[in-house]
Amino acid sequence: MIMRAQRMRDVRSDIRGPLFEEALRMQADGLDVLKLNTGNPGTFGFGLPDSLRQALLAGMDRAVPYSDLRGMADARQSILSYHQGKGVQGLAMDDIYLGNGVSELAHMALTALFNPGDELLLPAPCYTLWSNTARLMDARPVFYRCDEASGWYPDAEDIRRKITPRTRGLLIINPNNPTGALYPRPVLEELLDIAREHRLLVFSDEIYDRLVFDDAPHTATAALAPDLPVITMNGLSKSHNVCGFRSGWMVVSGPRERTREILTGFTQLAAMRLCANTLMQLVVPAALADNESTQAMIRPGGRLYEQRRATLEVLGTVEGISFVPNAAAFYLFPKLDTQLFGITDDRAFAMDLLHATNILVIPGSGFELDTPDHLRIVMLPEAAQLRAAMERMKEYLETRRA
Ligand SMILES: Cc1ncc(COP(=O)(O)O)c(C=O)c1O
Repeated sequence: MIMRAQRMRDVRSDIRGPLFEEALRMQADGLDVLKLNTGNPGTFGFGLPDSLRQALLAGMDRAVPYSDLRGMADARQSILSYHQGKGVQGLAMDDIYLGNGVSELAHMALTALFNPGDELLLPAPCYTLWSNTARLMDARPVFYRCDEASGWYPDAEDIRRKITPRTRGLLIINPNNPTGALYPRPVLEELLDIAREHRLLVFSDEIYDRLVFDDAPHTATAALAPDLPVITMNGLSKSHNVCGFRSGWMVVSGPRERTREILTGFTQLAAMRLCANTLMQLVVPAALADNESTQAMIRPGGRLYEQRRATLEVLGTVEGISFVPNAAAFYLFPKLDTQLFGITDDRAFAMDLLHATNILVIPGSGFELDTPDHLRIVMLPEAAQLRAAMERMKEYLETRRA
């Protein structure tokens, strides 16, 4: 038998794991399964914004050759202006790299910067792209607690306790997946103080920064730390419904003398893969100029707003479920009363739920949480469908009550 490489041993994803495979099997048997495992708006009828369609049609011929290894100049220019507009200082065009989604860029960033045994501090719960990528590098993911009782904000004391001589980086995911939390400025400032004190590289995944409800401001981490190397990640998958385009970018900010080696490493890797897909680069300026498509989804009456309202309304009536309403993104991460529902293993619970209701959700352990008492709901189906699904879930939970 041919064995996988050793470095694959700890990589795992529940989002496309056994629960997902079971859902596919049920679908093949003719069952109507509602798959709430991925945040993929296009599969729930969220279409291509017209601004992006026009840019694609008009620019296609420009996309034929390999582009600059960092990305097309007009795409980088629009990204530069976007981040400057959020208060990030000292940026230049060559601090920006386009990539095939944040997923590829996370891989690129950790490959360039992490040695085996280096430690990366990550939030728990965590979107597993980051923890898995750290494992692939033979780096050590170390999880810091996000505190549900404090709106899922990171627990700075826990971070301090977990710092060792091997700690190299601190990841912030804001707005967060799976909690939907949006961190206020003082929370970010406290995290940056820790990074300053311990000379940590800061990674800030801000892919949901345009999907913030109720006009709340999103603070760019890098804007608060011109004195620190910060690698900010962003992209169009969620704000413009184009997950399949694989359209993302990273921005390196901070003092030049401290970012030089980072940029050298990123340039080496960007050159190895020649360039990011150019078709998706074409749409970046148009997307960043088109805030209206995103706003239309998140204001009252918009799909994301109403879907969230429907979910919160139903789940708010379920005894044994509590939650922090998400301030951003389209995820809810409710807590289950494990005693009341007789839950000891959240993966087994999610499998039972799938069989009983035909609804696929990912349990908290799929997000590196070490307690079996959460699940993530992706609020992307139309409000009426989501409301009906939550009612089914409620009925099922009633049958499980001890
Ligand atoms: C926090 C976070 N970062 C990155 C990604 C992946 O983004 P992309 O489609 O740009 O690879 C996701 C996707 O769900 C995400 O939730």
